Amino acid sequence: MKAGILGIGDALPAHVVTNRDLEARVETSDEWIVRRTGMRERRHLQGEETLAELAADAASAALADAGVAPSEVDQVIAATITPDQLTPGLAPALAARVGAEHAGVVDLNAACTGFLYSLQHAAALVETARARNVLVVGAEALSRITDHEDRATAVLFGDGAGAVVVGPVEDSIGIAGFEFGYDAQLAPLLYAERDERKLRMAGQETYRHAVAQMTEASTKVLERLGLAPADIDYFVPHQANARIITAVADALGVPHERVSFNVEWTGNTSAASIPLALARAQRDGLIEPGSLVAMVAFGAGFVWGAAVSAWKDGPGSRQRRVEAKVETRSR
Ligand SMILES: CC(C)(COP(=O)(O)OP(=O)(O)OC[C@H]1O[C@@H](n2cnc3c(N)ncnc32)[C@H](O)[C@@H]1OP(=O)(O)O)[C@@H](O)C(=O)NCCC(=O)NCCS
Repeated sequence: MKAGILGIGDALPAHVVTNRDLEARVETSDEWIVRRTGMRERRHLQGEETLAELAADAASAALADAGVAPSEVDQVIAATITPDQLTPGLAPALAARVGAEHAGVVDLNAACTGFLYSLQHAAALVETARARNVLVVGAEALSRITDHEDRATAVLFGDGAGAVVVGPVEDSIGIAGFEFGYDAQLAPLLYAERDERKLRMAGQETYRHAVAQMTEASTKVLERLGLAPADIDYFVPHQANARIITAVADALGVPHERVSFNVEWTGNTSAASIPLALARAQRDGLIEPGSLVAMVAFGAGFVWGAAVSAWKDGPGSRQRRVEAKVETRSR
């Protein structure tokens, strides 16, 4: 049995922070931010707003898109580094809000790669028949661990939530394969201390490693599945910086019109970045049932990963073409 993505949903806070807003807070400019990052705006939770509410909005939308009832969810996996409290985690509160009354609930922390790890865990649960429907939510309130006085990082981070429903699929390659890696020696380049609770990053070095590892992980997962970049209909790299996305796409030879640049509207939202980009791509008609999607992420740890998945159920024409190749090589 294969696991596949059945539905998607997303939610952003109402409060928009534009580059002009940031000009009033730190010594920066709209021109610098656009040129160096590709970002135009990001969203921040305000006051009493909770991440659990935002995550639940995204999750409810994903369930509706999938046609799965909350009571049919067996497991909720919340990928986040910014739950509303240190403990309990995000998953119990979000599951309760959604009405997933029969679900197991767990948080997963793999920084910006959290969504892909959660997707892998969900696929494994479904494919071993330990669960039928798994709700995977990537949700972050990075504004709460941002040093808003430090221009080098204050402009980069945003809040948001995206969710997918993973369940069994027939006649589909489903969630076809993954590639993961890490390098703990490089942890000092991107971290938040327990006491300070602010993200600190050596930007240029992180940038260099992000491009190298996202390119390599993407190449490896495609090779393992017997696919070429040309087989991929839509490519969603972690949305940290438009220049990083461009460099990875160019290294792989994927034309930019098949690549997500959602970073323009969200900033870097860590574990929420990939599902937010996928949700927008579906809304914009850039992916449809049967499309083949590649995803790649890189973040604190450093921890990185890549994945290839069919988009929703049912074999599309392109999917049929690559299906034979993937069937024999996927693991
Ligand atoms: C953070 C990042 C956008 C900075 O861009 P950059 O081109 O590397 O810029 P630098 O850090 O070299 O800084 C260049 C100059 O701009 C200045 N600068 C930094 N932030 C600025 C800002 N918001 N506005 C204006 N100037 C800024 C720096 O002080 C520096 O000035 P100097 O040359 O006088 O010293 C970029 O390094 C990056 O995206 N890094 C990786 C992020 C990432 O991959 N994250 C993934 C894991 S979540």
